[in-house]
Amino acid sequence: MSEYTKTCVVWLLWFLLCVGTINLCLCNSLSSATCWEIERQVLLKLKAGLVDPANRLSTWTDEDCCRWSGVSCDNQTGHVVKIDLQNPYYDGSLYNDWPNGSLRGKIGPSLLDLKHLTYLDLSSTDFEGSIPPFIGSLSKLTYLNLSMSSFNGTIPPQLGNLSILEILDVGQNWFLRADDLQWLSGLLSLQHLDLTHVNLTTSSDWFHMIFKLPSLSVLKLVNCGLHGLPSSSWLFNISSLTHLHLRRNHFYGPIPNVFGNFINLEVLDLSSNTINSTIPHWIFNISSLTYLDLSFNNFNGQIPSAFEKSYIKVSLQILSLRSNNLKGNLPDILEQFRYLRTLDLSNNMISGSIPASIGRLSFLSKLYLSGNQLNGTVPNIIGQLSDLKVLDLAHNSFSFTGPIAFGNNKVSLNHLILSNNKINGSIPSSICKLEKLAVLDISNNQLSGELPTCWKNLTSLMAVNLENNNLFGEIPNVCHNHLLGLHALRLSNNSFSGEIPCSMKNCTSLAMVDLGQNKLHGNIPTWMGESLSSLVFLRLRSNFFGGTIPPQICELSSLQVLDLADNNLIGHLPECIGNFSKMIVNPNASQQALYIPEYIVYWGDFRRYIHPNYKYSLPLVRDGEEREYTNILPQVTNIDLSNNSLVGEIPVGVLSLLGLQGLNLSRNHLTGNIPLKIGVMRSMMTLDLSRNELSGQIPPSLSNLSFLNHLNLSFNNLSGRIPTGSQLQTLNDTSVYMGNSYLCGPPLPQECPGDGPSQSPSFTSKENEDEGGDIQEMLWFYLGIVSGFVLGCWMVWGVLFFKRSWRIAYFLVVDDLYDKVYVTSVLGIRRWKEMKGRRT
Ligand SMILES: *[C@@H]1O[C@H](CO)[C@@H](O)[C@H](O)[C@H]1NC(C)=O
Ligand SMILES: *[C@@H]1O[C@H](CO)[C@@H](O)[C@H](O)[C@H]1NC(C)=O
Ligand SMILES: *[C@@H]1O[C@H](CO)[C@@H](O)[C@H](O)[C@H]1NC(C)=O
Ligand SMILES: *[C@@H]1O[C@H](CO)[C@@H](O)[C@H](O)[C@H]1NC(C)=O
Ligand SMILES: *[C@@H]1O[C@H](CO)[C@@H](O)[C@H](O)[C@H]1NC(C)=O
Ligand SMILES: *[C@@H]1O[C@H](CO)[C@@H](O)[C@H](O)[C@H]1NC(C)=O
Ligand SMILES: *[C@@H]1O[C@H](CO)[C@@H](O)[C@H](O)[C@H]1NC(C)=O
Ligand SMILES: *[C@@H]1O[C@H](CO)[C@@H](O)[C@H](O)[C@H]1NC(C)=O
Ligand SMILES: *[C@@H]1O[C@H](CO)[C@@H](O)[C@H](O)[C@H]1NC(C)=O
Ligand SMILES: *[C@@H]1O[C@H](CO)[C@@H](O)[C@H](O)[C@H]1NC(C)=O
Ligand SMILES: *[C@@H]1O[C@H](CO)[C@@H](O)[C@H](O)[C@H]1NC(C)=O
Ligand SMILES: *[C@@H]1O[C@H](CO)[C@@H](O)[C@H](O)[C@H]1NC(C)=O
Repeated sequence: MSEYTKTCVVWLLWFLLCVGTINLCLCNSLSSATCWEIERQVLLKLKAGLVDPANRLSTWTDEDCCRWSGVSCDNQTGHVVKIDLQNPYYDGSLYNDWPNGSLRGKIGPSLLDLKHLTYLDLSSTDFEGSIPPFIGSLSKLTYLNLSMSSFNGTIPPQLGNLSILEILDVGQNWFLRADDLQWLSGLLSLQHLDLTHVNLTTSSDWFHMIFKLPSLSVLKLVNCGLHGLPSSSWLFNISSLTHLHLRRNHFYGPIPNVFGNFINLEVLDLSSNTINSTIPHWIFNISSLTYLDLSFNNFNGQIPSAFEKSYIKVSLQILSLRSNNLKGNLPDILEQFRYLRTLDLSNNMISGSIPASIGRLSFLSKLYLSGNQLNGTVPNIIGQLSDLKVLDLAHNSFSFTGPIAFGNNKVSLNHLILSNNKINGSIPSSICKLEKLAVLDISNNQLSGELPTCWKNLTSLMAVNLENNNLFGEIPNVCHNHLLGLHALRLSNNSFSGEIPCSMKNCTSLAMVDLGQNKLHGNIPTWMGESLSSLVFLRLRSNFFGGTIPPQICELSSLQVLDLADNNLIGHLPECIGNFSKMIVNPNASQQALYIPEYIVYWGDFRRYIHPNYKYSLPLVRDGEEREYTNILPQVTNIDLSNNSLVGEIPVGVLSLLGLQGLNLSRNHLTGNIPLKIGVMRSMMTLDLSRNELSGQIPPSLSNLSFLNHLNLSFNNLSGRIPTGSQLQTLNDTSVYMGNSYLCGPPLPQECPGDGPSQSPSFTSKENEDEGGDIQEMLWFYLGIVSGFVLGCWMVWGVLFFKRSWRIAYFLVVDDLYDKVYVTSVLGIRRWKEMKGRRT
């Protein structure tokens, strides 16, 4: 090899080496600019501590950690500045499967090696235990979100070291407390503070500490167990405050005048407290206020004096004074609230009529005046409010001679609720101009005449309730092929005649059909079972329906309530009666847990369109009394075929209905035995087989029905010894068994052959009976009002304690429903008293 060749080779090698080196150098510099290895290791450690069922961190493997999902780096220095592990599947609604997307586990102090972190979002994650104090050492943080993450214990005061923190959200951790808020004084840059559901019962210094924060703009202290409102002597002055949420605490007394210092307040929510004073004038003088919610308190005094003209500034858009004790007439001054979009004065004691000036609230979209003492007619001018979507005037004393004049409101109105008034006259066909109408409720009035036939124009209709009026004629073709959305049709207690229109076959979304207490005849159509697959509640009671019960009805796989009582039905009970799959509940506890979300899911899609304040209810006869079921309704299962002319035996298929709570077959001509294994129907609470021709012995397994609180076997041909034990011990009234000549043993006076002299049978006196009835009624009543929580309560709690994610969902549901449940209970109590009053 020549010297020349050698030199060439050396040069070549040198060249290759250089290129390689440069290449390497370039690579290195590039990689350090995108992700620092030390920070990458920290993130990998973080990942190792987390359980990731939905595999959300699948990208957390490659070299460039800046491109990992949820991680952001500074594009100059390459340092990790932002970690966002918020559950993307959580969209704020309660009925998605967000628990799936949650990360679980622990975070370790290695996080502190991310020295440049400014943004940390660990919300909607499932962490066990308390908030790690070392988070307080992430000194560059400006955003910290630890909400909805199952943290418990005390908020560590070390968080007070985050001196440049602007946003702190530790809300919705249900078992979190703060014993004092001294540490807040270190958060000098704080603009947004959310302590929703954090127990602040013992931190008496809360307002002192919070209102000293110089930059605070948004403050949420919802359901924190707070008692005293700050007194006027506190000379705090936060002009920065724009949003103040103090909902659901225990505040009482007047609203302190110092609140008038919040001169830039836009949102003030003091709802669900126990504030017992008049509404201060100055509150309407806060010129920036757009949202004022004082609902669910004990505010009293006259409406007019609250709305003193000179004070009212025009910015208010949403005003809710629902459920207080306000009196007086609606003042003309209402028009001062020029930009009002929502006005809710429901459930007060407001009287007089609606002033015509309401027609000048031209932006009004939702008007709730239900549950007051308003009278007169509904002013036609309301029909001219072109943005009006919800009109709820239920439970007042409006009278309506003449047609309802909503013809002008063509575009918007989608909720028309006039129930429980004294409106008479007929429903004019002009109602069909309300093309957006989704809810039409004129129940409990004095309407008469026939229904208009123009239903095909109402293409958005979802719920129709016209029950308890004097309407007559045939049921029009409610379901044309485009009326697919109709979900509830309630026409009970009128005088409708003719047959069920077969157009109803097209209403495939129907979940609730109540045509009870009318004069309908014909057969129960076979297509009902074949086409209405969404049907949950079917009530055709007290009509003149004849023929046999079509077996197709068993195809209704969502059916929970079947009430065909008090008709002229003949023939056998369908063999397939055990096929109603919603009544076959697997008693397995984990299945029961599904009931809670289902309570919401059930109305799921529907609730997106229907205002949540709009309630569904259904009257049901259980233990001999008819009661309205509302909140508990989604959990009710019931079959009532009583007072028909059914013959033959009780099919053993019925034993499959392990989730059935009530079965009433009384007043028919049923023969044969009571199914021997009836004791397997463990959910049964009321069982009435009275006034049939049943024979044989009472199956001893009956005593296994541990929820049974109402039993009636009277007036049959039953014979032999009455079984004893467990639940039957308490159902020892002779009326349960009377009218069966060959039954013997306690509580009947007849001795069984071979028995010694029986112990003196305990006959309850008439008075005691009544009292017992009352207690049972109360029981049902309470079950009814407590939103169904009681019913499944014990079944559910055990599971909740083990399944954390369900527990969170459950609490969210409870929280969401809290106010609504409250209204319903109050109304429920009122109505129940009325009902009782009427009966006695
Ligand atoms: C850094 O990234 C952010 C967000 O992507 C961008 O808005 C900003 O302009 C970038 N800065 C530079 C210097 O590239
Ligand atoms: C959510 O989790 C449940 C139970 O682990 C599972 O059955 C379901 O398929 C999951 N849903 C999704 C969307 O992953
Ligand atoms: C915190 O995260 C939750 C969702 O996980 C979100 O709803 C909430 O708005 C966040 N808080 C703030 C102040 O951004
Ligand atoms: C917090 O939760 C953890 C895990 O669930 C539990 O072990 C601990 O006892 C709880 N601490 C408090 C104060 O409730
Ligand atoms: C953080 O706060 C705690 C308690 O508030 C305090 O003892 C500690 O010295 C602080 N640490 C730093 C680094 O400031
Ligand atoms: C809040 O904390 C107090 C004192 O620790 C306790 O008595 C109370 O039961 C707690 N409230 C709730 C709702 O947990
Ligand atoms: C309150 O703050 C505003 C604006 O910062 C100021 O104009 C006003 O004088 C202050 N009032 C008191 C009583 O400090
Ligand atoms: C308001 O309620 C508190 C606590 O129940 C009571 O002490 C006070 O007297 C009430 N004030 C008025 C004006 O009713
Ligand atoms: C409305 O009720 C008031 C009493 O609250 C009564 O004076 C008035 O006559 C009633 N008006 C009508 C039209 O019934
Ligand atoms: C129903 O709709 C049709 C077509 O949109 C319209 O011509 C008719 O007037 C409407 N009927 C009523 C009663 O509004
Ligand atoms: C029911 O739907 C079918 C198919 O869409 C349609 O042909 C029929 O006319 C509809 N019935 C009524 C009464 O609208
Ligand atoms: C009947 O049941 C009641 C309780 O419901 C009980 O107090 C009473 O002793 C029972 N009587 C008999 C004879 O078992």
